[in-house]
Amino acid sequence: MIKTDISGVLPFVPEHELLKSIREDASAAHCRLTEGNSFDYLGWMYLPGRFDMDELRRIHEASAKICRDSDVLVVIGIGGSYLGAKAVLELLRSPEYNLMPKDTPDIYFAGNNLSGEHFKRLVRLIGDRDFSVNVISKSGSTLESAVAFRLFRSMLEKRYGKEKAAERIYATTDSTCGALRKMAEEEGYTCFSIPGDIGGRYSVFTAVGLLPLSCAGIDIDMLLKGAENAMNELDDCSEKNPAYLYAAARRKLYELGKTTEIFAVWSPEQRSLGEWWKQLFGESEGKKNIGIFPAAVEYSGDLHSMGQYIQEGRRDLMETMLCAREPEEVLMPETEKDDDGLNYLAGRSLAYVNRAAQKAVADAHISGGVPCIKIETGEITEETVGELLYFFMFACAISAIMSGVDPFDQPGVEAYKKNMKELLRKGKF
Ligand code: PA5
Repeated sequence: MIKTDISGVLPFVPEHELLKSIREDASAAHCRLTEGNSFDYLGWMYLPGRFDMDELRRIHEASAKICRDSDVLVVIGIGGSYLGAKAVLELLRSPEYNLMPKDTPDIYFAGNNLSGEHFKRLVRLIGDRDFSVNVISKSGSTLESAVAFRLFRSMLEKRYGKEKAAERIYATTDSTCGALRKMAEEEGYTCFSIPGDIGGRYSVFTAVGLLPLSCAGIDIDMLLKGAENAMNELDDCSEKNPAYLYAAARRKLYELGKTTEIFAVWSPEQRSLGEWWKQLFGESEGKKNIGIFPAAVEYSGDLHSMGQYIQEGRRDLMETMLCAREPEEVLMPETEKDDDGLNYLAGRSLAYVNRAAQKAVADAHISGGVPCIKIETGEITEETVGELLYFFMFACAISAIMSGVDPFDQPGVEAYKKNMKELLRKGKF
């Protein structure tokens, strides 16, 4: 299970203060989550143990069909409607998944920008290969994904004809309402539901994440099992709850002026997890003119770009380091001449070197005034990834409630959407 190591926070926050905040504030926030009448969007909390088995069977069937008849799956969605699937795909397969030899389709993410150049390149990448589309939008009216869907739908219809194209379109949307739901029902697309009480950034364990991941051959049952393990283990009101520790440490550090949190990962496979994490915390907590600003880095690469700032720049930073156990099988060879002077590492694993770097960086940052919270997990597998994502969603909800905001709304996102629609309708800008 996940462990939160707060030893790198204690030089900044006295332990008794942290424990007080856990006992009083974190557990009170947890009570508000479980009471069931304080917030509207709590469906994600119990989803892993209560997943609709019929929906799960349909996801497996749809992904088997996509794998049979498509070389490419285009996943259209933005924000919470794609970041989770992308993060898990990269964690469990690779950021270079599409380049790997495999018997599952390539997966391209679209509809998360408005760039014509990006669209053109995607079309070129698909070429004349057979493809299907999974359009994901809870509201069914988000401009970026709706625009991309219109483009890809017309491409599908040109290539396969309207009827056959409909058999290649999978719509994941609100269970009852919205433009996409209506269109999907009218056109006969295969439909998957995002329950009304689950918001975008908490939806990775619905068909939003599960259908694309299943198409990549990822064991989605084990992913759900991991989430269920975390759900059970975090239902604990004691001071040992790792989510309480994480939430309370962040809040105490924010009170001390540490207003930016850097999420640091230690492998390229984890970079997109940082993007998912940023959206989860940013959209859940940044409200009412308060909130910790979430940033992300990938070490050790970013130590050579952001390292200087983190060590000696403005002292408003805290750091959360993801430390996942790595396989020990890549070993440093011994060389006869030792011309690079690295024979002292001969026989050591790359995982060992990475661990040394983690300790060295955390120690340096702490002594430079950047508190460090370590989130420790086992080797990256479907099960541990399920645990990790659930852990962050749960800790984020607790932390946001502790800060006095509703973790599940995003009223601020509407401002740009309204402006953009107005400008586009008027046609003058
Ligand atoms: O977390 C959220 O709710 C948002 O990031 C949404 O996922 C994002 O805006 C996309 O919305 P929709 O799924 O309605 O297209």
